[in-house]
Amino acid sequence: MKRTTVIAIVLAGVVIAVVAIVFGGSSMPRDPMNGTTRFDIPTQDPMLVVEGEPRYQAYCASCHGTDLRGTAVGPSLLSVIYQPGHHPDDAYVLAAARGVPAHHWNFGDMPPIPNLAQADMTRIIAFIREHQRIQGFEAYPP
Ligand code: HEC
Repeated sequence: MKRTTVIAIVLAGVVIAVVAIVFGGSSMPRDPMNGTTRFDIPTQDPMLVVEGEPRYQAYCASCHGTDLRGTAVGPSLLSVIYQPGHHPDDAYVLAAARGVPAHHWNFGDMPPIPNLAQADMTRIIAFIREHQRIQGFEAYPP
């Protein structure tokens, strides 16, 4: 084999390897703007989002943060573990109804949230999903 042929074969191999690493590394879509991982969250009903905001601030923000990014006593709801494929809407309903034993973090247990009607949870979830959709997700563990 000619030397140029060998070099050409080696170069082709390098190019293929780089392409495989860059494009084949992750099956999750990457947001080119800020590098966070995004999922296919549909645009939420704007009315539900608007109505969900004050309810989220009243019932959830003290632990999960006014901006959803967590506090000293609760995790960020923008953590990638709270994306719909891992925590579907039902998980949010159950969390509020029954509370959550600590298992992903060291903040302690989430207590059940009393006096929260199903219709209010629907609004709160729309508010949270809309933020997740727009802002993307943070890595877990942070
Ligand atoms: C008193 C603090 C507190 C309040 C108020 C609170 N949470 Fe939580 N929540 C937590 C903590 C702490 C965790 C993390 C538990 C763990 O380690 O996985 C959590 C976890 C969750 C989870 C993950 C559930 C799971 O299955 O892992 C969801 C969803 C959630 N909260 C939603 C809400 C919503 C919605 C509200 C308002 C209706 C709310 N939380 C109010 C403290 C709170």
